[in-house]
Amino acid sequence: MRGERVDLLFVGAGEVFTDGAARSGVAVGVRGGTIAFVGPAAEAPEAAETFDVAGGLLTPGLVDPHTHLVFAGDRAGEYAERATGASYLEIARRGGGIARTMHATRAASVETLVALARPRLDQLLRCGVTTAEVKSGYGLTAADERKMLEVVRRLDAEHPVDLVATFLGAHTVPPDTQRAAYLDAVVGEMIPAVAEAGLAEFCDVFVERGAFTVDEGRRVLEAGLRHGLRPKVHADQLSPGGGAELAAAVGAVSADHLEHVSRGGIEALAKAGTVAVLLPGAAMFLGSDDRAPARALAAAGVPVALSTDCNPGTCHSTNLLLMLTLGMSRLGLSPAEVLDAVTRHAARAVGREAVAGRIAVGRPADLAVFDVPTHRHLPYHFGMLPTRAVFKGGRRVYTGRGPADRRTG
Ligand code: NIG
Ligand code: FE
Repeated sequence: MRGERVDLLFVGAGEVFTDGAARSGVAVGVRGGTIAFVGPAAEAPEAAETFDVAGGLLTPGLVDPHTHLVFAGDRAGEYAERATGASYLEIARRGGGIARTMHATRAASVETLVALARPRLDQLLRCGVTTAEVKSGYGLTAADERKMLEVVRRLDAEHPVDLVATFLGAHTVPPDTQRAAYLDAVVGEMIPAVAEAGLAEFCDVFVERGAFTVDEGRRVLEAGLRHGLRPKVHADQLSPGGGAELAAAVGAVSADHLEHVSRGGIEALAKAGTVAVLLPGAAMFLGSDDRAPARALAAAGVPVALSTDCNPGTCHSTNLLLMLTLGMSRLGLSPAEVLDAVTRHAARAVGREAVAGRIAVGRPADLAVFDVPTHRHLPYHFGMLPTRAVFKGGRRVYTGRGPADRRTG
């Protein structure tokens, strides 16, 4: 029996990918901005309007679960220095790195930061992204961290990409500040104020040499939990340091980076149900051969997500589709695994598993259409953007060029 008429029906998809599998011959109907039908084209309801996917790929709107895309200034000079031999930590010790971006971000107004971040969000949308996480962490005073999160709030209100805000006051100890006093401010002043103002859902900490220890990280994340902020951890990125074990111990929603995660850390993440957010663009942009053990994580039952890490220092990229390619070529994931990594697993990493990352009846119609014949062809397009259209809540919010210009098979 055909169901009630829908507003919009997606027909002619080469494949519809969701929940780890690609299917053909499937139509997707939308009513009132919500997915109302997913099933065989022959059983599809009547529609006011149809969208011809024309042999392309239909996926859930993609989710980028880890970005630092609100910042001012740039670090092109540091990138050049690194390419010719300097290391990230050396540059940071000399006053560059996060501190450089902190100075530029402190000096910028909310309006300037919104104007700088907007095109980055536009670029994410062009990759098919409809939900993205954004962190603070370049203000590093109570007022400047709030300013960054205010920018996230404004962008969320004006831009079709849905934003999830994370407080990352514990990104690094700002220069000329006493470590203990700074941590006291993060825990005693910033977290309560951010939570009270409803400016963030998550609390993150950079556990690393030159940033924070495991014990300091635990203190910050526990304070966040007391104020209703769910934990996330920048863990084991540049050196092994027990970050994954900490993430598991505090019940973190995600542990991110993990290039140097230990065997015990992998097992702890699996037990805790923590998502591993892998950022292969960061290692590559840092000129490092470090690779997160994606296969071991997946084998242990840890959901693996992928993200851009978009930031001015370690990965100046908004190209989430490129991360699919790196997830395969550098981390050994399969095409279905990298698609899962930017849909249902990424949605879980940002607490949006109930509304994003899957094509299923009753969910918001956040959808992306790519001019590729199968899901295997999406990561195969290395740095290309075969996005034809993006829909947010059933509304078309991005249109790429036509299939004739794009189809490369
Ligand atoms: O995810 N690791 C810490 N934070 C960022 C880098 C921030 C920066 O260098 O500006 C990251 O790699
Ligand atoms: Fe990061």
